[in-house]
Amino acid sequence: MNFQTTIQPSGHQFSIADNETILEAALKNGYTLPYSCRDGVCGVCKGKVLQGEVDHGHGSALTEAEKKAGMALFCCAKPQSDLIIECQEVNAVRDIQVKTMPCRVHSMEKPAEDVMVLKLKLPANERLQFLAGQYIDILLKDQKPRSFSLANAPHTDEFLELHIRNISGGAFTHHVFEEMKERDILRFKGPLGTFFLREDSDKPIIFVASGTGFAPIKAIIEHALYIGIKRPMHFYWGARKLSDLYMLEMAKQWEAQGIQFTPVLSDALPEDHWQGRTGFVHCAVLEDYSDLSAHVVYACGAPVVVEAAHTDFTSTRGLPNDAFFSDAFT
Ligand code: FES
Repeated sequence: MNFQTTIQPSGHQFSIADNETILEAALKNGYTLPYSCRDGVCGVCKGKVLQGEVDHGHGSALTEAEKKAGMALFCCAKPQSDLIIECQEVNAVRDIQVKTMPCRVHSMEKPAEDVMVLKLKLPANERLQFLAGQYIDILLKDQKPRSFSLANAPHTDEFLELHIRNISGGAFTHHVFEEMKERDILRFKGPLGTFFLREDSDKPIIFVASGTGFAPIKAIIEHALYIGIKRPMHFYWGARKLSDLYMLEMAKQWEAQGIQFTPVLSDALPEDHWQGRTGFVHCAVLEDYSDLSAHVVYACGAPVVVEAAHTDFTSTRGLPNDAFFSDAFT
């Protein structure tokens, strides 16, 4: 049975078929709601159900209190009646075509023991239009797709760059680190997601990355520098130990171009001889900024980091909810 859904405030309407989530149906109908993981983990797709009933499905990024307050994760929720939902559509990605295409592994480099930088080459005469910060799904036979952020900005699109952390027990990352070779062929779908720089603002920007959450932040900063954004920008990169800041020199060099950079380690090793900031990365932001009400924040990394940043910045530093953009991944 199909249900009608109306998005407020745009008034756009679409129909949701059996077994479709609200997000799936909206995207199919050309309406881009904010999303990232599409798996109930990151919370980016969270919005309000103003009218109607939903089955919330399996999402973990929604508390019972939020459910009671009428919130839902649109990537997991399925309608049980006609709906009116409240959500800001993301028009900037609406006209970007999502493609499925092959690519060739051009190069593989390990800037750290457990991080692989893959550069992927598209077929001759093919380009991928994308916004800095978006991600692609690597398509795998008989396995669910694996999502990776694009680490390069669109103006340097000769290759697509991915930063892949070796996850213990991860079948795909095991393949990347142990079996993949240059010139292997992969298939991917993209670009996906709504994590990208909003250029229609002049608010100072704070970037927060943990681990390989650096990848889309790198893409966004490279894009911002390329287009000559003049807003103050402060980049915090958190990791456990020094070698996890696997492109530290690159980030330091951005300082000469006006980007303030604060690396933060939570578990520095004795041999790191670390003299810099310590603790959790979002806590460093809290220490430095008593008021974020006039800032925007772009955060990427593990869900626990992104969620902590969102909660603390909005509840204790006055950051408006709609000034927090994030991409969380497991
Ligand atoms: Fe829905 Fe991540 S929780 S897109």
